[in-house]
Amino acid sequence: MEYNNLYIEEENQIATITIDRPKKLNALNKATIAELHEAFKELEADKETKVIIITGSGEKAFVAGADISEFADFSEKEGGKLASKGQELLFDFVANLSTPVIAAVNGFALGGGLELAMACHFRVASDNARMGLPEVSLGVIPGYGGTQRLPELVGKGKAMELIMTAGMLDAQKALDCGLVNYVVPQEELLPLCEKLAGKISNNSSVAIKQAIKAVNAGYSYDKDGYAVEIDAFGACFGTNDFKEGTSAFLEKRKANFPGS
Ligand code: COA
Repeated sequence: MEYNNLYIEEENQIATITIDRPKKLNALNKATIAELHEAFKELEADKETKVIIITGSGEKAFVAGADISEFADFSEKEGGKLASKGQELLFDFVANLSTPVIAAVNGFALGGGLELAMACHFRVASDNARMGLPEVSLGVIPGYGGTQRLPELVGKGKAMELIMTAGMLDAQKALDCGLVNYVVPQEELLPLCEKLAGKISNNSSVAIKQAIKAVNAGYSYDKDGYAVEIDAFGACFGTNDFKEGTSAFLEKRKANFPGS
């Protein structure tokens, strides 16, 4: 598919999606959300892609939020649909993707931008990044999963404070409260994400897929995470990756996972 609001680069089985609306600080309009859905779907189906990194173009913003100009005159019904469609197409979709997704937060990650970063499996930030959920300053609340994922990551009290004050955390504070895993100078952001992606891609992609499912189940109101873990653990025993991983260990060699 041809994309107008993002571009994808692939190297060493790692795909990097760059959201490319720098003049609007990469704000997520409807077209960008639809393109991101297609891009993630396409990359997940591509067995050569082991890890996906997502970042924003330019040096200023990851994503400065949902595109405010698109919903300023929405009705209640349209507002509800905006949130449900967005969650379905992008935020829940990314969180449950079987291919690991790393957010490279290269600047402002506000509102829908932070919600997108939080939907990714983990986050790395550059030292100029600033993160927050400023929706209540616009008379609305986070609608792309922010009220759920922020407390999961930083705890309820800190999340309540951030949401109610509409405040921003700098990168160091985001690191201190567990919102991001690492903070590095901007020029080191993608190299570090690629290094982490490289480590991930050496491991069994089918086992990683089961691990994502089991971890996510524990944060899902309608699933028993322990039961999902048991099923996922069992399922691994039927895979070629398991045969290869255990044989390689016993034969004292490096595993070469077939990914099946
Ligand atoms: N939706 C739509 N457009 C946005 C946007 C958003 N969420 N965030 C930034 N933009 C646009 C601005 O309107 C501006 O466009 P223009 O040049 O056509 O006027 C352009 O991006 C640059 O932004 P600007 O505000 O001029 O940059 P700044 O450096 O002064 O401020 C921010 C940066 C991030 C602090 C500021 O843009 C901001 O507060 N954005 C909105 C954040 C937000 O509330 N997000 C949650 C949305 S639910």
